Amino acid sequence: MREILVTGGAGYIGSHTVIELIENGFTPILLDNFSNSSRKVTERIEQISGVRPECYNVDITDRKALQTVFEKHNFEAVVHFAGLKAVGESVSEPLRYYRNNVQGSLELFKVMTQFDCFKLVFSSSATVYGDPEFVPISENAKLNATNPYGQSKLMIESVLRDLAVSNSAWQISILRYFNPVAAHESGLIGDNPNGIPNNLMPYIAQVAIGRLDKLAVFGDDYSTPDGTGVRDYIHVVDLAYAHLCALNALDALHGCQAYNIGTGNGYSVLEMIKAFEKASGKKIPYEVQARRPGDIAACYAKPSLSKECLGWVAEYGLEKMMEDHWRWQSNNPDGYS
Ligand code: NAD
Ligand code: UFG
Repeated sequence: MREILVTGGAGYIGSHTVIELIENGFTPILLDNFSNSSRKVTERIEQISGVRPECYNVDITDRKALQTVFEKHNFEAVVHFAGLKAVGESVSEPLRYYRNNVQGSLELFKVMTQFDCFKLVFSSSATVYGDPEFVPISENAKLNATNPYGQSKLMIESVLRDLAVSNSAWQISILRYFNPVAAHESGLIGDNPNGIPNNLMPYIAQVAIGRLDKLAVFGDDYSTPDGTGVRDYIHVVDLAYAHLCALNALDALHGCQAYNIGTGNGYSVLEMIKAFEKASGKKIPYEVQARRPGDIAACYAKPSLSKECLGWVAEYGLEKMMEDHWRWQSNNPDGYS
């Protein structure tokens, strides 16, 4: 049995990765405090995969509880998703973000060391590039955080690089995700943000089902082809598959390496609205408003390193992302509730 600990495994990206792991012969063991996820997720995973994964209700800041989980299993590796991710909230509650994300990760790495588990895939973000000097962005671009959430990712990345230097047993893949969207094509699992969504895709989808009136387009005066922000949207199933590739590539990796996980294509807000309208048959009313503080004009990946070292490339295009996102949202207008 190839047991993999998946922290934050009940969340959006975690749950999709759990499906990939099950379908590829691994036994994922989930650990989540359900601060931003539903207990129904394991049932949905079972409906899709035929396997209901074991799941612990544990907070990663609780070292004793983590140790208890490690005592019961023999983990080959850890995929570490658990964390808080709302940028605006991180600005108003920095201590909560540093404690949850940084302190929680330190506890996890400590317990991994105690149990001789040195293989790790860590969820980082393109946010660590701040306002990039060049696009497409490669892994050796300057790192710079513009908010406590991004700073927490940068701090954890630094800890991981130091750990790898301290002990050559560590094999660590840092995945820097660009903008995850869409859902499993079953329509059974997907993004389920609490309250009013901060991100573009869930916002558009909630306008489409009538939960929100209209989309605010944050600025149309950027130096991009149509003036709206450009991002590298990636299908969450492609992203989930990247974790499988990263896990499989850990054996050949010594130390710590960061990889961009994006498609390499940038789409503007207006292009996203149009593509969603086409896939859903719904009109998305919108209004151009002022730029959102902290936003950047364009952010998209140079994904060649992940292709070369992980054997991973994104398969799904914009049309499929929109269709799958819409299926999830229209089948589950209130998310998991
Ligand atoms: P998510 O909120 O859906 O999943 C995170 C999961 O971690 C949730 O189930 C939550 O309950 C759990 N969690 C949070 N703190 C915990 C703690 N202290 N102990 C145990 N469980 C805890 O978010 P997601 O979109 O699936 O993101 C997963 C990871 O990917 C996060 O680390 C996030 O920062 C990173 N990431 C996400 C995006 C994105 O746009 N979704 C982009 C880049 C990076
Ligand atoms: N946008 C709108 N209206 C909205 C929401 C977003 O016009 O209601 C625009 C933004 O201005 C931006 C684009 O849509 O141009 C994408 O915005 P998102 O909030 O969906 O995504 P960001 O690129 O700003 O940030 C997200 C996460 C970060 C993460 C980053 C890279 O929120 O945490 O992707 O992975 F770091």
